[in-house]
Amino acid sequence: MDAEILAIYPGTFDQLTNGHVDIISRGARMFDRIIVAILVNAEKAPMFTMDERVEIAREVFKPHPKVEVDTFNGLLVDYVERKQAQVIVRGLRAVSDFEFEFQMALMNQRLKPQIETVFMMPAEQYTYISSRLVKEVVALGGSVTTLVPSIVEDRLRDKKLGRKS
Ligand code: PNS
Repeated sequence: MDAEILAIYPGTFDQLTNGHVDIISRGARMFDRIIVAILVNAEKAPMFTMDERVEIAREVFKPHPKVEVDTFNGLLVDYVERKQAQVIVRGLRAVSDFEFEFQMALMNQRLKPQIETVFMMPAEQYTYISSRLVKEVVALGGSVTTLVPSIVEDRLRDKKLGRKS
């Protein structure tokens, strides 16, 4: 029997967007299992705490048995090795993503040549979504329905209301 292929989809996920969800769903179709690995302490002032990010991702992927949610610290390739995974999945939205992603993939390849980075394209309607722009639109009162899962939209609204009061 062929070995299971386990993929890691790493990121900061502050906050999870429908673009991430689309890539994770594609990864779940392609690999036996996929772990959404949330980087601990990536930003000094995150919008969502680590616990909130984990809780949101677990809620969104509850119906998907092939998707797990975990956190990691330190070098990504060390985490991938500890989990005995073979693949890192990254999403590519546009040419502007390419340079940084290419650098990261080659650095990770140099550190652990046996780990493969696989790039996946999201559906066209998600190619312009970024966590940063979603935050800005919400902060300025715009609607992000269809750009983020509904649980994220609710939490963003709660945070905005919380700040006003
Ligand atoms: O959501 P992001 O910010 O695009 O995710 C970036 C992430 C978490 C994949 C990257 O910063 C990372 O892998 N950090 C862990 C530390 C590490 O391994 N650095 C060397 C990467 S070449």
